[in-house]
Amino acid sequence: MNNPFNDNQNEYAITASAPGKIILFGEHAVVYGQPAIAVPVNQVSARCQVTAGPSGQGVHVFAQDLNERFVLEDVTEDHPIAAAIRYTLSKIGLSTQPDITLTLTSTVPIARGMGSGAAISTAVVNALTQFLARPLPKQTVSDIVFDVEKIHHGTPSGIDNTVVVFAKPVFFQKGNPVETLSVVTPLTFVIADTGIKSQTHKVVGNVRSRWQADKLRYDRYFDEIGRLVLQARSAIEAGDLHTIGACMTANHQLLEKINVSTPMLDQLVKTALQAQALGAKLSGAGWGGNMIALTMPEYAMSIASALQSAGAKNTIISHVGIR
Ligand code: PMV
Repeated sequence: MNNPFNDNQNEYAITASAPGKIILFGEHAVVYGQPAIAVPVNQVSARCQVTAGPSGQGVHVFAQDLNERFVLEDVTEDHPIAAAIRYTLSKIGLSTQPDITLTLTSTVPIARGMGSGAAISTAVVNALTQFLARPLPKQTVSDIVFDVEKIHHGTPSGIDNTVVVFAKPVFFQKGNPVETLSVVTPLTFVIADTGIKSQTHKVVGNVRSRWQADKLRYDRYFDEIGRLVLQARSAIEAGDLHTIGACMTANHQLLEKINVSTPMLDQLVKTALQAQALGAKLSGAGWGGNMIALTMPEYAMSIASALQSAGAKNTIISHVGIR
């Protein structure tokens, strides 16, 4: 929350923001009950500003980056931003619509496995509850964002809403209380965008069909990923960067086996490793989206430029665990 007075209009305003995220370990297997690890990416964020409107206007929404402008009562149940607003108003027990305008902006790349939907929903819920002076516990906010994620993705595991709402490194397993991780030695990542959309619901659906056709084999892959996640957790908590990196590359090889990688993602992994990365993998659902590489800070720039030469459309250098 910041800037309670909107400078331009000299009126009361609340702004809340939420970070993007990357999944470090365990995507897909997490849908089948295995643990996973994700971290926030503070270099990108979604923001929501709430201002008071004239009496009787209801809830107006202006989503600049999505080029959308609507009045809440005019949009259907399955509109994700409207759902985030409706679920929040219902959770805080407001029976009449407040007269407010929500202005949304986001720098989180869309459909790249960076949690853009969860970031927008989180910013909306937090700005709304702060404006209405009805703050909710983080777990309740996470539950609301999870319900909105179901509109985007069908059967989300819950990792995206958890890491984005808590805005801390998390160890996540469906059905268990969220655990935040302490990162002993700061982690530096290079995130490389393939420029190709990752359509989470399609990839998750494809993995489900393959799992149904050969449960034995796929459960074995998911178990192996789960073991890597546990090993990586210990390494993160011990500050052992080399083991974290090795676990990432091993996780990528398992993601290749379950058919969610692409030649471009494999090429970016190879390029990062050749450029001295400690480990690299695709992050998120796959079939596009981002590749992430762990590196010593001094190699981050040269890895980013090697990845751009290999075809990455954009790179972000992100640090986790630096206060
Ligand atoms: O939304 P994405 O692209 O970060 O993918 C989410 C990760 C999956 O494990 C593939 C799906 C899920 O719901 O956990």
